[in-house]
Amino acid sequence: MVSPVSAPKKTFAERWTYLRPYLWEHRVPIFWGWIFVVVSTALDQVSPWMVKVILDSLQSGSAMPKIMQCLAVIVAVTLVSAILLFYQRLWVIQASRQMEYSLRKDLFAGLMVQPKAFFDRQTVGDLMSRSTNDLDRIRDMIGPVVLHLARMGCLLIFTAVCIFLLHPKLLLTGLLPSLVMPIAANIFLKKMYAHFGGIQKNLSALNAYVQDTLSGMQVVKGFGRSQPFEEKFRGASEELRKSSLRVALFNASIWPAIGVLGVIGVAFSAWYGGRMVIQNQITLGTLSAAILYLLRLQFPLIGLGWVASMVQRANVSIDRLIHLKDSFLAPVHRASPPPSSTSTTPEFESLSVRSLGFSYDGKTPVLDGISFSLERGGSLGIVGPTGCGKTTLLHLLCGLYPPPPHSLNLNGRERADVSDEDWRQHFSYAPQDGFLFSTTIRENILFGGDEKPPMTVEQVADWAGLSRDLPQFPNGYESMLGEKGINLSGGQRQRVGLSRALLSPAPVLCLDDTLSALDAETEEVVLENLRRLFRQRCLIIAAHRYSAVMHCDRILYLDRGRIVEQGTHEELLRLNGAYAAVWEKQRLSESLETV
Ligand SMILES: Nc1ncnc2c1ncn2[C@@H]1O[C@H](COP(=O)(O)OP(=O)(O)OP(=O)(O)O)[C@@H](O)[C@H]1O
Ligand SMILES: [Mg+2]
Repeated sequence: MVSPVSAPKKTFAERWTYLRPYLWEHRVPIFWGWIFVVVSTALDQVSPWMVKVILDSLQSGSAMPKIMQCLAVIVAVTLVSAILLFYQRLWVIQASRQMEYSLRKDLFAGLMVQPKAFFDRQTVGDLMSRSTNDLDRIRDMIGPVVLHLARMGCLLIFTAVCIFLLHPKLLLTGLLPSLVMPIAANIFLKKMYAHFGGIQKNLSALNAYVQDTLSGMQVVKGFGRSQPFEEKFRGASEELRKSSLRVALFNASIWPAIGVLGVIGVAFSAWYGGRMVIQNQITLGTLSAAILYLLRLQFPLIGLGWVASMVQRANVSIDRLIHLKDSFLAPVHRASPPPSSTSTTPEFESLSVRSLGFSYDGKTPVLDGISFSLERGGSLGIVGPTGCGKTTLLHLLCGLYPPPPHSLNLNGRERADVSDEDWRQHFSYAPQDGFLFSTTIRENILFGGDEKPPMTVEQVADWAGLSRDLPQFPNGYESMLGEKGINLSGGQRQRVGLSRALLSPAPVLCLDDTLSALDAETEEVVLENLRRLFRQRCLIIAAHRYSAVMHCDRILYLDRGRIVEQGTHEELLRLNGAYAAVWEKQRLSESLETV
């Protein structure tokens, strides 16, 4: 399995292209949030200036009313700034949540239209990790992180302007040590990207492992193999712990050092400014205001470390999502718009398969030169040894994998000329071990579809032979199923899957060994129902037990992906080949069972 657990690093432009539509969608609250950042940061610069005015007034012996006025200004701007701070947070955080919602919605919608071949190459744990953790990180960056960064940028500019207005030399001494920061940050950010890439990769691997193990818990317990699984889990957790610790150590040692640079700037200014006060070049008020401005930069400067690490985390996550999006497969064809749910039952006249070949990996052929055709009211049986390609053929017919050009034709239209949705409307598929959801039996049969009399849940369950088992369920069709229908027998699971397929109005029903867990008598009753129901439609049955296909109009015997024998049941028996040999064995073992 090829899982895109780690993703190649993307450029800023690629990340911007990915996020731009979402940022644009929420531009109004983001714009106002940022405007408020600018205004509130500008207002924050007023207080130190007022301190300068107060100190200068005290030194020149001015009257108390001026000092009181300054104090009133300080209180007023602080209040207004606090209100703006509230709104800027509210709007930007809300916008980031909305963006997260839009990103997640689009990601899920993208996954939903992916063909089966895409999911063959992914692990559920990794996809889960991308649709939760990675999106959380992007949201954090667009919300609090960018807010902090914007505030920091405004603060730096406004502080620089204010100190420059106080005295240009104070600006130089105060901010000089901070000038090395961009160089240092550039080196550290590169390292940090690698560290966070490691964390996300290990987290995805751990998620995939936990998901796999919990899904297969029945097998794990059945074989009494908890111990090796626990050890493997410990190994994966250990990897995650190590990579997280590496980042923690990096953060703990580097970023406080950057904060120290700011303090050196303050000390340098105090020393240099003190000398200027002694030489009467500036007032004590001017020096005090400059020191206040520089001290106000300290907390945001230390917070830059947090900002940098959050940005790098988010960058890794954006890269992973872009990589996932890039690995999406194109649908087989989307020529026409998807049919609406109110569309009428699709018509079926004929299905023609011509020299169909297929390979999962592009190297090993799984199907080769398959040709047959089916008319309305016809039935087809597919048999052959295990691994001969029965399921693959059904998957291709149902549109789950893209077939080679000109190999499939439905109602006279080539596969490439029919949209995926339209094609799939013609087929319902009942797999050998259909996936059941942990909801009621009724919901599992309905599967989001509608009941249209006479096609009710009760009726299709009756045709599928499920109703006879109903007394075993405490609440009938409303009985809740455990995860993957754990509280049903294999045969019951198959019949819930068959009922689901029967409820669909699709004209072609494909059964993939769906009746294998039924006893011979129930199988015969269900098959009789199906033959009656599909008299005007079409039935394709892949099976190991030949009793399921013997009444079909035509039977294909596959071996290693090729049709080696075909005909009616009688014709194949007369041929006396592979089909006849297996039939004879099955007949013998059945008669031995009845004895
Ligand atoms: N998703 C997949 N990716 C790669 N190879 C696959 C995949 N599914 C099936 N195969 C391979 O394709 C071949 C045909 O498999 P398929 O499931 O079609 O056989 P089958 O006739 O249905 O077998 P069975 O009777 O056991 O159900 C097998 O060799 C199998 O290993
Ligand atoms: Mg199969």
